[in-house]
Amino acid sequence: MKTLTIDIRKAEPRDADAIADVHQAAWHGAYAGIIPHKALTSMINRRGREWWANAIRRAASVLVVEVGGKVAGYATLGRNRARELPQQGEIYELYLAPECQGIGLGTRLFETARQRLAANGLSGLVVWALEENSGALDFYHGAGGRDVAEGVEVFDSKALRKVAFVWD
Ligand SMILES: CC(C)(COP(=O)(O)OP(=O)(O)OC[C@H]1O[C@@H](n2cnc3c(N)ncnc32)[C@H](O)[C@@H]1OP(=O)(O)O)[C@@H](O)C(=O)NCCC(=O)NCCS
Repeated sequence: MKTLTIDIRKAEPRDADAIADVHQAAWHGAYAGIIPHKALTSMINRRGREWWANAIRRAASVLVVEVGGKVAGYATLGRNRARELPQQGEIYELYLAPECQGIGLGTRLFETARQRLAANGLSGLVVWALEENSGALDFYHGAGGRDVAEGVEVFDSKALRKVAFVWD
């Protein structure tokens, strides 16, 4: 039997290609049929290898989960952007490649991201998810998040509701 090592670590510039691939596949899987096609395609195309390489170089806040040496998912995190919420930290994005979903990696990545924020002195955590992304809502509820606020995000004139989950 083959044993696969699971490792969660800070992203490095050499991960840019793999993160761009995960981003593309995960966003298609999660948002096709929810976010209008044109808007989704241009959001995905904006985030190619160069974009990720830059993001990794500029900020220390991209994590990857690696399975058997292959990037299976990523998370980006930092300071909470919503002034009306008192929590100081935020996970901006947390995505796994479609073939790597549902086997506990998201939970591990989430917990590591949460610990990193706390270790950086940010207390409390916010995550936003689109209301139509029912898998994400189930995941954050299951992880003990409380849905405390709503917002709206507009994509090509289609307004979609989003929900904020918090952890204290
Ligand atoms: C949402 C996501 C991060 C969850 O990570 P994951 O590794 O698949 O989740 P886990 O295997 O750790 O599952 C943990 C719990 O979340 C719930 N869950 C996860 N994905 C779910 C889905 N698609 N539908 C329903 N529940 C789901 C389950 O209740 C599971 O609990 P269980 O183990 O008791 O069954 C991942 O599936 C993903 O990247 N999805 C697509 C992109 C996305 O929606 N990202 C979040 C944007 S805000």
